[in-house]
Amino acid sequence: MRVLVIGGGAREHALAWKLAQSPRCERLYCAPGNWGTKGVAENLPVAAHDVDGLLAAAVDRRIDLTVVGPEESLARGVVDRFRERGLAIVGPTRAGAQIESSKWWAKEIMRETGVPTGRAARFTESAVALDYLGRRETTFPAVIKADGLAAGKGVVVARDREAAVAAVRDFMEEGTLGTPVRTLLVEEFLEGREVSVLALTDGETVLPLLPACDYKRVGDGDRGPNTGGMGAYAPTSLLDAAATRRIATQILVPVVKRMARKGAPFSGILYAGLVLTAFGPKVIEFNARAGDPETEVILPLLRGDLLDALVALTQRRLRDVALDWEPGAAVGVVLASGGYPGPYEAGLPVAGLDAVDQDAIVFHAGTRAGEGAGR
Ligand code: AMP
Ligand code: GLY
Repeated sequence: MRVLVIGGGAREHALAWKLAQSPRCERLYCAPGNWGTKGVAENLPVAAHDVDGLLAAAVDRRIDLTVVGPEESLARGVVDRFRERGLAIVGPTRAGAQIESSKWWAKEIMRETGVPTGRAARFTESAVALDYLGRRETTFPAVIKADGLAAGKGVVVARDREAAVAAVRDFMEEGTLGTPVRTLLVEEFLEGREVSVLALTDGETVLPLLPACDYKRVGDGDRGPNTGGMGAYAPTSLLDAAATRRIATQILVPVVKRMARKGAPFSGILYAGLVLTAFGPKVIEFNARAGDPETEVILPLLRGDLLDALVALTQRRLRDVALDWEPGAAVGVVLASGGYPGPYEAGLPVAGLDAVDQDAIVFHAGTRAGEGAGR
C-alpha cells in the first residue's frame, strides 16, 4: 500500500515510524514531515493546512491510505475533500471535528448523552461573562475557555475572581489570542489527576489505546506556563484495562453514537482528556485526533500492525480488530529550544542524537536539514 501521513510534528513522526513497520506498507510519504521522518518516509513539500496541495499530492502519488495528524488539517476539511474524491483517509470530517473545534458543541453532546463533565456556562458578551464572575454562586478556581481552536492557548485556569476577570477581558476585549473571542465558556474547575484516553473508532466500534498521562507545563515539578506538551508516559496505573474499557463504553461510545445521530459522524482517533475526580472520571475536552506527545509513547508499545488497524477503521471493520500491547511502559521527554513556550530561537543545530541510548527512540518535531545542522 501507498500511505501518506499529514503533518510535521513528533506525533506524525511516531505514526510514520509505526506505519513503516507494516509489511503492507510499500511506500510511505509525509507532508510536510520533518528531518526525522526522512528516515522512514519520503517528505513531500506540502503544508498540512494546504488541502488542495495535499489532495493533488495524494492523487499524483496514487495514495491508498492517508492518516491525518493535526487538528488544523481536519478543521480545514481535508477529510471531506479526500472522501469526495473516493480516497481512504483516517480522521473525522469537518462536522465530526467540531467535537474539538467547538467546546460548546462538545458540552451539548455530553449533556445529551449524560457523559460526566464540568458544569459550564457560555457567553457571547464580555459584560455578561463579567457579571457572572461577580455572582456569589460562581466558585473559584474557574476555567475560562475560548470556544474554538487556539493551539492550547485558549484555556486559563483562574485561581480567583480577579484572574478570571483578567482572562475574560484579555480574550473578549483585548483579543490576546489574535482576534477577540466571540464565544467563551466559564467552566467548573475539576480537581484530580489528568489522563488521556485515545481510541480508534470507525463510528461504531471504539477501540481504546493504552491510557497515557501528558505533562503540559514547561518546568520541572509540573510548574511554569502551559506548552504543547513537555512529556508523557503510558500506560498509567491510574486506569487499568477494565477502567479504560469503561471509559470507552460509558463515554466514547455514547458520544460517537450521538454524533452520528446529529449528522456529524465521527471516525478516526477520538481523544478524551479526563480528570479523575473524587466522583469518578469527568471529561475536560475531546480532541478529534491523536494526542501529542501521547502518541509518541503509545505507539512504541503497540504490538500489532497499525496499518492493518487503520485500513479496517476506514472500512468500518474495527470490530474484527484486537489491539495487543507490549508489557512495560514508555516515557517521553520533549527537548525544546530555550525560551519555549515564549519567544525562542529556531534554526539552531540539534547535536548529540548519535549518543542516545539504544532503547530510546528519537521523534522529531519541525526539524529540517540545513546549514550547520547537527547530527
Ligand atoms: P485544554 O486546552 O482544554 O486541554 O485545557 C488545557 C489544560 O487546562 C488541561 O490540560 C487541564 O490541565 C486544564 N483544564 C481544562 N479544563 C479544566 C477543568 N474543567 N478543570 C481543571 N483543569 C482544567
Ligand atoms: N497532549 C495534548 C493534546 O494533544 O492536545
